[in-house]
Amino acid sequence: MGLALLAALAATVCDARRELSMMKVMPRAVYTQTNDPAGNHVVAIMFNASSGMLAGSMTTRTPTGGMGAAGLGGNGQPVTADGLFSQGAVAVSGSWLFAVNGGSNTLSLFRISDTDPTSLMLVGTPADTLGDFPVSVTYSAKCKTACVLNGGKRDGVTCFGVSATGLKPLDASPRPVGLGQAANPPTGPPSTASQIAFNPKGDILAVTIKGNLTANRLGYIGLYRVSKTGMVSRTQTRAYSIFTSQPAGAGASMIGFLPFGFAWVDDRTLSISDPSVGGAVTLCISSRDPMIASIPVYKTDMAGGYAPAVFMLPEAAPCWAAYSDATGCAYIADAGAGVLAEIMPKSGGKLRSVFNVTSAFGITLGSTPANTYGLLDTAAAGELLFSLSPRSGSVVVVDVSSGSMMPRQLLAAGLPVSSMGLAVAC
Ligand SMILES: *[C@@H]1O[C@H](CO)[C@@H](O)[C@H](O)[C@H]1NC(C)=O
Ligand SMILES: *[C@@H]1O[C@H](CO)[C@@H](O)[C@H](O)[C@H]1NC(C)=O
Ligand SMILES: *[C@@H]1O[C@H](CO)[C@@H](O)[C@H](O)[C@H]1NC(C)=O
Repeated sequence: MGLALLAALAATVCDARRELSMMKVMPRAVYTQTNDPAGNHVVAIMFNASSGMLAGSMTTRTPTGGMGAAGLGGNGQPVTADGLFSQGAVAVSGSWLFAVNGGSNTLSLFRISDTDPTSLMLVGTPADTLGDFPVSVTYSAKCKTACVLNGGKRDGVTCFGVSATGLKPLDASPRPVGLGQAANPPTGPPSTASQIAFNPKGDILAVTIKGNLTANRLGYIGLYRVSKTGMVSRTQTRAYSIFTSQPAGAGASMIGFLPFGFAWVDDRTLSISDPSVGGAVTLCISSRDPMIASIPVYKTDMAGGYAPAVFMLPEAAPCWAAYSDATGCAYIADAGAGVLAEIMPKSGGKLRSVFNVTSAFGITLGSTPANTYGLLDTAAAGELLFSLSPRSGSVVVVDVSSGSMMPRQLLAAGLPVSSMGLAVAC
């Protein structure tokens, strides 16, 4: 893509909301987890409001009481980065922090100290997820419910009530998601679980499940209704695998196999990253009743504007997604190329700008592999984006306040390559 075109795209706004106000949200700390198979730890890094930077010296590591895990790659060996094949291994809401323990099939709940956001207190004991290899967790503050996505042999969604005494299972068994994994740890990335997240309103719970190109099985978005009392339906409606035509330039057999990370844009719109599409997909859920049964069929015709649409990104492994209320843009993070793509979900999912970590921070790669600054989980808070770069052990901070993505900080945080998940407390 030419620079002139990129500049032209950057001049357009993501969403009218951005015109109204840039939300004044101040991050307090960012969290990731080491996902270490020998003992999982949550890493908390303080955000210094005076300097507007992460304070690397104010970092804590707190044991989760469980083990991390690494899935197996196509060669049968444990993968190094992205061992869970997922987005959302850590979640934060108010003073709750959740972390999955892929190696011990448990979910840990912490309370974040009001006075020191890097001080975490484990609440109760880690809860059995009733399945294998939990990879992603979400919490609805409205329903006081946390749900976890298991990505191993016993796969599926299990939900918990959350209170000061800890996690209380709301289910007797998970809601299966049909991965077809024969053993633990699972083999991937194909045929693995990607992410789970409630919409902001808390009336829909969504999961992304990767398909398998070799087995000619498409991936899908699974949607669960959530009742007013917070009960998550046992049955799932599948969307996304109903692709009927192919995006321009993509091979017909390469469409929609790997829906990976996603971000809720609003209560009925999702931005989904899918490396098999080579881009981002914006999916809208019909608000008609029955809402979930009437998801519009994906189409590649971009002329329709705001509709389920795909936009090709100049990326190698666009797998993680975040949405910024402040800009109205979604951000797709690439593990292969170390770039963030800013897309406009309300404008057909079009690309607005691209942020390249190595060029933005003036890094000379030399003989280091090009994917060293590859980005995984990404979270937006106010005018900033935080993105996990596990191969470089760092956290990348990007300023999105000025209508483009500007480098703020590249914090060498000494994170292990196995690190997964990133969440921000504000
Ligand atoms: C926070 O930032 C201020 C202003 O730059 C600086 O004086 C202070 O030392 C920083 N604190 C920490 C813990 O880094
Ligand atoms: C994908 O499907 C092929 C063919 O059925 C199978 O051999 C392979 O194990 C599957 N891959 C995964 C990761 O499940
Ligand atoms: C990012 O910038 C570097 C130069 O610092 C360049 O070598 C690389 O190709 C760029 N990556 C992408 C995906 O544009």
